[in-house]
Amino acid sequence: MADKEYTDPERMEKIVSLCKRRGFIYQSAELYGGLNGCWDYGPLGVEVKRNLKDYWWRRNVQEREDIVGLDGSILTHQAVLTASGHVGGFSDPMCDCLLSKARLRADQIEPQSGTAYHYSGASEGEWTVERRFAVLLREGQNENKARKTARQYYAQFHPNKSLSPKTLELQGETTSQEENTTSFNPENGSLLTEAREFNLMFKTQMGASSSEDDPNAVAYLRPETAQSIFTQFKNVLDTSRMKVPFGIAQIGKAFRNEINPRNFTFRSREFEQMEIEYFCRPGDGLRLTDEWLENRLSFYEDIGLPREKLHVLDVPDGERAHYSEKTYDIEFDFPFGCQELEGVAYRTNYDLSKHQEHSGKPIEYFDETTKEKFIPHVVEPSAGCDRTVLALLCEAFDEEDVVDTKGKTETRTVMRLNPRIAPIKAAIFPLLKKNEDQVRISREIQEELGSFMQVFYDETGAVGRRYRRQDEVGTPFCITVDFETLGEEDPELKGTVTLRHRDSMEQERVAITDLLPRLLREIR
Ligand code: GAP
Repeated sequence: MADKEYTDPERMEKIVSLCKRRGFIYQSAELYGGLNGCWDYGPLGVEVKRNLKDYWWRRNVQEREDIVGLDGSILTHQAVLTASGHVGGFSDPMCDCLLSKARLRADQIEPQSGTAYHYSGASEGEWTVERRFAVLLREGQNENKARKTARQYYAQFHPNKSLSPKTLELQGETTSQEENTTSFNPENGSLLTEAREFNLMFKTQMGASSSEDDPNAVAYLRPETAQSIFTQFKNVLDTSRMKVPFGIAQIGKAFRNEINPRNFTFRSREFEQMEIEYFCRPGDGLRLTDEWLENRLSFYEDIGLPREKLHVLDVPDGERAHYSEKTYDIEFDFPFGCQELEGVAYRTNYDLSKHQEHSGKPIEYFDETTKEKFIPHVVEPSAGCDRTVLALLCEAFDEEDVVDTKGKTETRTVMRLNPRIAPIKAAIFPLLKKNEDQVRISREIQEELGSFMQVFYDETGAVGRRYRRQDEVGTPFCITVDFETLGEEDPELKGTVTLRHRDSMEQERVAITDLLPRLLREIR
C-alpha cells in the first residue's frame, strides 16, 4: 500500500528542471518575470499532450458508438453560467495575511496550536494607531518574536516609511491559548482577515462598444468544458440521433482564477480538461458512475500510471459539488503528495433541469420505446489534461546507475514514458555522419516513419551520447544504421538496423522493411 502522505520535493525539483531543460514545459512569459499559474508547452511537451488527447479521444469517441464529440466556444454567455450556478457560487474562501498581504485559500490552511499575542495598537511619540492585531507563537518560540512581528505590522501605518519598527510602543498586550486555529498565517504567525468568498471565473467584455456596466456585454472564459455540452445537448440529440444512454465528449481549455496556483502545472489558472457527459435514465446513474470509475482507472493504467499509485476517494456527503449525488476522485501519488487527477461525478439531471428552467425551452428526451419523456441524468468523468501530463512525467522520471563501455559508472536519466505517450517514438542515427550510404539510408527511414509518427534524426556525437539524449526525453526506440546495414560485415545482415530499447537498453537486429509495422504495433 502506497504511503499517501509521502512527498519527495527533491525529485519534483529535478522533474521541473528537466521539463525546462529539454523543452517539455516553460513558465509562461518567463521573459517578463512569469505569468503566475500559466504554462507553455515546448516542442516535446506539446507532443506528449497531443498524444494523451488523441488517445483519450480514440478510446472514448472513435472506438465507441455511444459517444460523440463537441468543440464548444470558450467565451461563455453570462446566462449559461448563471443557470449552472457558477456566477453565484463558483468561489473559494479566501483570506489575506495582515502583515505580508499574501492571499491564502482559507480551506487549505493547516490548523495550528500555540499562544496568541493580541495588541490593540501602537504609538510613537505623538503618533498612535488603534487597530487590533495578533500573532500566533508555536510552543518554544520566544515572545519577542510576537512583538517584532506586531511592530512590523503597525509600522506600515506610520507616515515615516523609513522609521525603524523597533521604535514603536505596542499597546494592550494580552495572550490566549489557541487550539487548531486557522486564523493565523503559518508562514509568519500574523493574523489573517476573516475568510470571504472569491469567484474564480475570469470575466470579460464582449464587443467594441461595450461599457463596463452593460450586462449584455459580459461574458466569461469557461471554468469547465461541461456547460457547452449541456447547452448543446438538444442540438446534438436532434442532429446525431443518439439514444440514451449516450455521451458527449469534449477536450478544451478551461480558466479559473485560482487563489494559489501551485505544484508546477498541477493547479493552473489556464488548463485543459477532457470531459464526458454521459446521459442516461434516472435509475442508471449510480451504476454507471461505478462503471465509469473502473473504465477510467484502466485508462490510466494503459497510459503508464500503475494501479498501486492510483487511489479512489469516495467523496463524502457535504464535500461534493452542489450538483453531485455521488463523486469519486481518482487521485495519484505525485511527488508533492496524493492529489486529484480526475473526478467521476453523478450530476443527476441538475444541469439540464437548470438550463430548461432558465432558458424556458424544453430539453427533455423522448423515449420512443417506452413513450416516456424525461430529463436525462448525467455521469461525468472529468479529467485534467495538464494534470495527467504531469502525472505521466512524474511517473516516468528515473535515474539509474549504469556502467559505460570503459567500465565507468554514470547516472542515466531516463523518462520511462509509455510508447503511446512518448513525444518522439524513434530516433534514427547513422553510425558515422561521414558515411554517405549510412546517412542516405537513415534519411530514407526517417522519411518513411515520419509519415506515421514523430521521429528524430541525429548524427552528432558518439552513439552512446545520442542514446542518452534520447533516454532523457523518453524516446522508446533508437535505430542505428551501421556497416552491417550496408552488408559490409556479413552479407546476411544487409538491409538490417540496430533497434535499441530505451528501458532495457537491449539491442536487436531488425530488417528495415519490418521497422514500420513493428513500431506501429508498439506505439498504438
Ligand atoms: N466539470 C467538472 C469539473 O470541472 P473539477 O473537479 O472542478 O470538475 C475536473 O475539475 C478536473 O479538471 C480535475 O480533476 C483536474 O484534473 C482538472 N482541474 C481542475 N482545476 C484545475 C486547475 N486549476 N489546474 C489544472 N487542472 C485542473
